[in-house]
Amino acid sequence: MTTFILFGGTGDLAKRKVIPALYSAFVNDRLDANFHFYGAAREALTDEEFRVRVTASITNYSKKDAIGTHEQLQAFLALTFYSKIDARIAADFEQLKTKIASPDSHSTLFYLATGPDLFVPIVERLSHHKLVGSQARVVLEKPLGHDAQSARDINQALRAYLNENQIYRIDHYLGKEMVQNLLALRFANLFLEPLWNRTWIHDVQISISEQVGVEARGEFYDRTGALRDMVQNHLLQLLSIVAMEPPINAGPDSIRDEKVKILRALHKFSPEEISKKTVRGQYRAGAVDGQVVIGYQDEPGVPIHSHTETFVAIQAEINNWRWAGVPFYLRTGKRMAARSAEITINFKHIPYSIFGGAHRNFRSNRLVITLQPEESVELFLKAKEPGEGIHLSDVALNLDFATNSTSRRVQAYERLLLDAMRGDLTLFVRDDELGAAWDWVDPIMTAWQLDTDGLKSYMAGSWGPAASSYLLAQHGSSWGEEFIDN
Ligand code: BG6
Repeated sequence: MTTFILFGGTGDLAKRKVIPALYSAFVNDRLDANFHFYGAAREALTDEEFRVRVTASITNYSKKDAIGTHEQLQAFLALTFYSKIDARIAADFEQLKTKIASPDSHSTLFYLATGPDLFVPIVERLSHHKLVGSQARVVLEKPLGHDAQSARDINQALRAYLNENQIYRIDHYLGKEMVQNLLALRFANLFLEPLWNRTWIHDVQISISEQVGVEARGEFYDRTGALRDMVQNHLLQLLSIVAMEPPINAGPDSIRDEKVKILRALHKFSPEEISKKTVRGQYRAGAVDGQVVIGYQDEPGVPIHSHTETFVAIQAEINNWRWAGVPFYLRTGKRMAARSAEITINFKHIPYSIFGGAHRNFRSNRLVITLQPEESVELFLKAKEPGEGIHLSDVALNLDFATNSTSRRVQAYERLLLDAMRGDLTLFVRDDELGAAWDWVDPIMTAWQLDTDGLKSYMAGSWGPAASSYLLAQHGSSWGEEFIDN
């Protein structure tokens, strides 16, 4: 039996991600037989009114393979209920308690898809009304705080009511198929490990570009910015998995122990370094995929003259034996030329080319792990083109998962929800990881606030400000889309 209570049940995240993910798990028979779902939010709604919204969310946001049949939808709705909750009103929690069959059992999962300012008040109330004790699990959505101090304050306050192993901090990038595949690639194959270090790797690039703008979230986004929205969590989590040492096993704490060491080893920038190693930008009007789009400052909810960054590129460095001196370039942006999430490992050049001439400067080997839009792992090698003479070109050894696998694609949120229901913490962020990530980001945020002139503008539909290319060019590298093969 599982009881799933979704705070923020009428919000944007619930509608777009959490409800479709739950429904997909239901349609694919992944929920246990006695599952119940409660939406909880401030609005006063009947069960029936909430079910209408749940239906709309499933219809509008479900993936094709998770639409199910009319009968399946009706069966899911029959398990769906609503409870009006205002974090300040005790009676609302009493009422919720009367509805839930067995509060504080390990089969009760509270999902807080609300702002971080509500995490502590909600958990406090839940605890006061004996809805969470030593058994229940609580899932927290990002952002977890807005800087290192606020994140620590939230963690500390929550620990008065919950043990660390009851807290599931979601970073949905960890639920993506290819992130787990990265663990398999690194730790189930022999040949990469001897090459996976500063001796053989020139640089690492982790890039998440989006074509969407800030959508309906202008007000939230303007308070947040790309550094907090994407770098502090998704990009640093990917970096820690690429860079970590082999864990002693695949258990949650073994993996998280290794990840946190990397986050702690990130070189913290001095104010002078920040202007040299970081680039931030904001999109102006342009065209994405042939569609004219407005600039960031014209988006609803965004103040005119806003200094919030919608693009970030950073040259990170890891101070340890494996990685000292290897740049880890992180990049993310809204309204960019293409939607993609990629990790590229650029190996060093061969020491000398016996082919001479035009082939002297050719591109070195690289491993590209693509998380989206399609999932693949490509190892680019040089090979001779068929025919007369020696003409070399890039050939990819390609593990194309989209074409080569018939298994159902489990979306990130579905995987993470099921893991939380099963009590598997592996793909959730531990408090020390969160703290270490904020500690690295904090000085950058502070320096940017003081230097508003450093914000560059870029045209919507481009790859960001030119300074982002320059960041790499200084070290003889370039972003994947810029490379002209020779
Ligand atoms: C979220 C950010 O965490 O990730 C959004 O808040 C962003 O701004 C989203 O659009 C990107 O996720 P995905 O899975 O679509 O790449």
